[in-house]
Amino acid sequence: MSAFTSLLGKESLIGLDIGSAYLKAVQVDAHKQGFRVSRAAQTLTPEGAVRDGIVVNKEAVSDALRQLLRTAGIPATGAVMAVSGPTVVVRHIKLPKMTEAALRKSVRYEAAKYISANVEDSAIEFEILGPVEGADDQMNVMLVAAPREMVESRITAVEGAGLEAVAVDVEAFALQRALVDCDVNRYRDGGMRALVDMGAAHTEVTILNGTAFALTRSIPIAGENFTGVFKSHYRCESDEAEQRKAECDMALLLEPEAEPETLEDPRLLQPMLDELLREVRRSIHYYQSQLAEGSETGTLQEIVLSGGAAQLPGLAPYMRARLGTEVRLGNAFNNPVFETHPESTGFLQEQHPRLQVGLGLAVKEMMPSAPLVRA
Ligand SMILES: Nc1ncnc2c1ncn2[C@@H]1O[C@H](COP(=O)(O)OP(=O)(O)OP(=O)(O)O)[C@@H](O)[C@H]1O
Ligand SMILES: [Mg+2]
Repeated sequence: MSAFTSLLGKESLIGLDIGSAYLKAVQVDAHKQGFRVSRAAQTLTPEGAVRDGIVVNKEAVSDALRQLLRTAGIPATGAVMAVSGPTVVVRHIKLPKMTEAALRKSVRYEAAKYISANVEDSAIEFEILGPVEGADDQMNVMLVAAPREMVESRITAVEGAGLEAVAVDVEAFALQRALVDCDVNRYRDGGMRALVDMGAAHTEVTILNGTAFALTRSIPIAGENFTGVFKSHYRCESDEAEQRKAECDMALLLEPEAEPETLEDPRLLQPMLDELLREVRRSIHYYQSQLAEGSETGTLQEIVLSGGAAQLPGLAPYMRARLGTEVRLGNAFNNPVFETHPESTGFLQEQHPRLQVGLGLAVKEMMPSAPLVRA
């Protein structure tokens, strides 16, 4: 099938989320007014192959990817990927008004002010967003920088699987695209929200002001830290710890009459989760502190969860109680814009937390005019 599509000269793209725990692929076709999710699949990332966002074992990832696509029957010729993590810098900056060509020449110099890494070792991108209100000689720019090795190792791994690396995005943007840009009416109230994507190695907090991207921050506490709590307490293997985690209902901690023995595992996990929630809260407070005093947009409307670790039982009610704010699992597939194939509906509904980033990447090239930021 893939030979056939390339014979026809038709590109067939996937959104590819290369996580430290799982590789996720999502394929989407244009359909009526929206999209049809034609295929989605995931497989374990080869052990130790992705570290700190860098594909350290490219061959292993290429092989796993090739096998994933073959097994799931996904006819792909190219992939859209993303980067994320603490070394990825995403900043709104103001610069003197200039053309895109002029900024391209000076962007490394400008970027050096915002990134701690050497600019020579960084891949840098930008988008001119428009004039600064009240300052005609200035413009708003979205600056993105990532370690060159992070970007290049992903491209090499994808090419090693026989795919064209079509674009490299930022995970926070992909998530925003899937959950918000494809569902703008839901967010028209203009309120402030936090998208919290809990993966294996890190949790990404992305703050939105209405439908506009505000900031993203990476916290190094996520699923593998939770597993680690059980591994060290019970001195058990990862499989058993994963099993315990998947059965660890955090909402029991909110029930005054819960049987004490059912509380054992939730209590073990609680300090690590609470530490993560403190960091989430700090990110939100940081954003609020940047806003003008008395600004109405500074009230948090809700937290929208995604990522595999958000599948922790009872997480949303626990967070709601802890943070005193509305918390829900975001599921972009529950949007009429995305028609799903009856055969894959079960898989998508069950695994949706892990597939949101891949979905946002899958639609990237199909909505090229979607701005990074919407007023
Ligand atoms: N039912 C479950 N309950 C709790 N945690 C779960 C469940 N299922 C999966 N996880 C956890 O989800 C994590 C994997 O999620 P995900 O695929 O989003 O991570 P990733 O994208 O590979 O990681 P990262 O983005 O941090 O590199 C693992 O830590 C796994 O243990
Ligand atoms: Mg991830």
